[in-house]
Amino acid sequence: MSDKHVKLTVPEGKTAELPIIEGTMGPPTFDLKTLHRDTGYFTYDSGFAATAACKSAITFIDGNKGVLLYRGYPIEQLAENSNFMEVAYLLMNGELPNPEQYEKFDQEITYHTMIHEKMRALMKGFQYDAHPMAMMVGTVGSLAAFYHDWMDIEDPEHRRLAAIRLIAKMPTLAAAVYKNSVGQPFIYPKNSLNFTERLLHMMYAVPAEPYTPNPVAAKALDLLFILHADHEQNASTSTVRLVGSTGANPFACVSAGIAALWGPAHGGANEAVLNMLDEIGDVSNIDKYIAKAKDKNDPFRLMGFGHRVYKNFDPRATIIRKACHEVLNELGIDDPQLDLAMKLEEIALQDDYFVSRKLYPNVDFYSGIIYKALGIPRNMFTVMFAIARTVGWVSQWLEQYDTPDTRIGRPRQVYIGPKPRDYVPLDKR
Ligand code: CMC
Repeated sequence: MSDKHVKLTVPEGKTAELPIIEGTMGPPTFDLKTLHRDTGYFTYDSGFAATAACKSAITFIDGNKGVLLYRGYPIEQLAENSNFMEVAYLLMNGELPNPEQYEKFDQEITYHTMIHEKMRALMKGFQYDAHPMAMMVGTVGSLAAFYHDWMDIEDPEHRRLAAIRLIAKMPTLAAAVYKNSVGQPFIYPKNSLNFTERLLHMMYAVPAEPYTPNPVAAKALDLLFILHADHEQNASTSTVRLVGSTGANPFACVSAGIAALWGPAHGGANEAVLNMLDEIGDVSNIDKYIAKAKDKNDPFRLMGFGHRVYKNFDPRATIIRKACHEVLNELGIDDPQLDLAMKLEEIALQDDYFVSRKLYPNVDFYSGIIYKALGIPRNMFTVMFAIARTVGWVSQWLEQYDTPDTRIGRPRQVYIGPKPRDYVPLDKR
């Protein structure tokens, strides 16, 4: 914190002295808390383009340089050397675990993976073709019904346990959602497997025969989960924080986060990218679709391209692009959609429209191609994202509780509706 101020004088002559808050890194920020009190003015910032809604020590992004740090550690180093469980511990607790802490954390997650049997009955109520994200919103929210009465939201240990339960149970729910869609029996979590192997086992094993998860697939999923684990105040995380600011049950908060993630402008983009590649179909059609993306009268956008924060390569996309080639090679898959995606990227990155607006491929441009290679159905892609992002959601939710100046989130508005007018009875209208 610095003692620097910005002085802002409004046309009526009133002045506000706004303290400047400086974080450890990133742009300086005015604290607007006293602005309305001292001047009568609000600020308007549609989409929060320049507004910080919280202080956080979890994730740092420099969008101009393409930098992403979890608790100070560069994403490239974590992707190369760490694993998802360790990253989950880091994001939740602030430091990398020592071997005992790692073991204990991994065990705690492993022993909280089961879901109440009544959840299975709830799952069976959904149609076989229900979208998995719709089921995830419903079932994760329903977990609140199993973990509410005992929970004292003011007790840090209760909050920590809720966070552990959410991380642990998401893969079990995700796999159950998938099994529901293919009409197969649910498979229980297997404690001898690691986090991603266990997920693959619950998704693909059947009671009739043994199933060994493919280590290449498990490793690829682990990498994708590291890359998706947190991304500071994105739409779904901000949703979790906003709902959390009311003191709501954490399972309900995360359910709201899942709903926000589902949209194609956010986590739904991975599914939308493959739909788009299907629609483009062939390299010969790329120019036509680039023209559509540039046409302001056409709603078509290049999915997997552009980002609110990154005005340079999304560092996650760079890692995923490389992994995509490696995974397809190791699995012996030749996917023409990868060639199409690469050609599309090449052409877009030479086009002045994309260059001048600093639109680069984002994390979702290549992730769908990896998920597809792992046999994960398209409508489950965003569910995979949700499993990983749960770590970020719960870490940010925990941090919010530990931040002294947290208040209920309550944005203001610029009212553009009618001025006061008198009610006209129905028979006079
Ligand atoms: N295709 C064509 N034009 C685009 C695209 C795109 N994908 N993205 C942005 N633009 C244009 C946009 O029309 C605008 O042009 P102009 O200045 O002429 O009006 C300019 O670039 C700035 O875009 P914006 O909509 O103001 O940017 P934003 O920060 O509000 O939106 C975004 C960011 C990610 C929603 C947007 O880039 C987009 O819709 N991308 C496609 C969807 C996507 O890939 N989403 C995944 C994001 S990363 C993972 C995640 O968050 O979950």
